[in-house]
Amino acid sequence: MSKLNKYSATLTQEVTNPAAKAMLYGIGLTSDDMQKAQIGIASTGYEGNTCNMHLNGLSVHVKKGVQENGMVGLIFHTIGVSDGMTNGNDGMSYSLPSRDIIADSIENVVGGQWYDGVIAVVGCDKNMPGAMMALARLNRPGMLVYGGTIRSGEYKGQKLDIVSAFEALGKKFANTISDEDYEGIIKNAIPGQGACGGMYTANTMASSMEAMGLTLANSSSYPATHEGKKAECLAIGAAMKNMLEKNICPRDIMTRKAFENAMTVVTALGGSTNAVLHYLAIAKAAEVPFTLKDIQDISDRTPLIADLKPSGKYYMEDMLAIGGVPAVMKYLLKVGLLHGDCMTVTGKTIAENLAEVPELDFSAQKIIKPITEPIKATGHLQILYGNIAPDGAVAKITGKEGEKFEGLAKVCEREEEVIEFLSKGEIKAGQVIVIRNEGPKGGPGMPEMLKPTSAIIGAGLGDKVAMITDGRFSGGTHGFVVGHVSPEAQAGGNIGLIKDGDKITLDAVNNTIHMHVSDEELAERRKLWTPKESPFKQGVLRKYIKNVSSASEGCVTDL
Ligand code: FES
Repeated sequence: MSKLNKYSATLTQEVTNPAAKAMLYGIGLTSDDMQKAQIGIASTGYEGNTCNMHLNGLSVHVKKGVQENGMVGLIFHTIGVSDGMTNGNDGMSYSLPSRDIIADSIENVVGGQWYDGVIAVVGCDKNMPGAMMALARLNRPGMLVYGGTIRSGEYKGQKLDIVSAFEALGKKFANTISDEDYEGIIKNAIPGQGACGGMYTANTMASSMEAMGLTLANSSSYPATHEGKKAECLAIGAAMKNMLEKNICPRDIMTRKAFENAMTVVTALGGSTNAVLHYLAIAKAAEVPFTLKDIQDISDRTPLIADLKPSGKYYMEDMLAIGGVPAVMKYLLKVGLLHGDCMTVTGKTIAENLAEVPELDFSAQKIIKPITEPIKATGHLQILYGNIAPDGAVAKITGKEGEKFEGLAKVCEREEEVIEFLSKGEIKAGQVIVIRNEGPKGGPGMPEMLKPTSAIIGAGLGDKVAMITDGRFSGGTHGFVVGHVSPEAQAGGNIGLIKDGDKITLDAVNNTIHMHVSDEELAERRKLWTPKESPFKQGVLRKYIKNVSSASEGCVTDL
């Protein structure tokens, strides 16, 4: 297929390839349509989980808005893997790789079909960063629509969400819940469509991509079932037309300052550690220098001010009533923590978009605190270095669990061993639980440890043990946890050399992660160490193991 001007999109492009024209007539387009810009609408919708079940429907509204603004909207689909459903089983290995498959597939369709622009309709943890990576690589006018957060569930007067289900399992292990209540929680935790409801990974990525300027206002705050979500989808067309006319491309938006804005909002809202991994990867796709050190610098200057789950009280559905993410951004801009001069998909800057947004009223709401009374004076995301993680590790420390932990190692060769040891009563207060062989290559796919962390919290040990891993933590995880330990065990990292009973010190004030084992002893242990043989000899996970970079580099597969 050939068009007059494949990269500099305009509204006057014409389809000139006769075969392409014939096919486009075949799908029902008219002669007039041949003169119009074609917008690829990438839906990550599928029926199998609540985060994505409604996205195909939202894509139809997006298409309507595109068509009403004189363009041709063409919906295509990409894959999705639900973290909530894969947590704690072998399917989790496919989750992080799905991010890069989503990026590749959107790039592939939009690049192959030479669409003039792209709109991605996204709703779960991996499809947001995946779509952002695709937009950055393609760099033709594009934007995102978030599917929206879920409403909270309820059982016996208690609000519930996805994490409640895992924590109920921990209570079951501890024999502190009846079978009836366990079933009651599982049946009522998830009331319908929408992404997991706390400031977990999906809402973290949604809030920060809005802060980056890649969505319309409040995309992250409208719950999936809110009427504003449909209105947002219909309004996308006009915004897309404006982007095409002005040739505003993703890399005009995804600048170094915009990455800082995104991570500032992640930090202020107490967002997921996964954002660290994803923004490193997205920055690479956009060819913007952005490292773990930059993330630490942002954390050093940004207080945690949101009382949102998992460590806090409120859900994302509560945010809209106080003005949503735009109100938080306006406050952060006012106190000098956000760059106001970044371009956005509206064709205006962040500051211009926020000019008419009402200010946060601190006397009328309790979700967002003023920076003078923060939940934590600096960010909860802390990058730790030391002999366990020479290339860095990511700690999520809200302050409620303390900022230092010292204890003796309890080594789990796989995630499953945590549950096994817990059910046998072998996990005890004062231990540092080391979960290894769960990195990008070793897991493979750097699985999330939501099941063990929730089970430990459910068992009443949440504030009595710490956990370190070369895997990841879910956005729903809380407690003293350190993930992304790099290099991972499978790549020969020192986390693979830890033995039961080694003394470990975790220090989120001085940003260190240290085992009290001499270099000589570590050298002796290394002589006996061999990498585990992977059972994956072919297929997508084999490709992933061969290509994936370290967590400290964002786990990208194309560099
Ligand atoms: Fe999709 Fe939580 S599993 S948002």
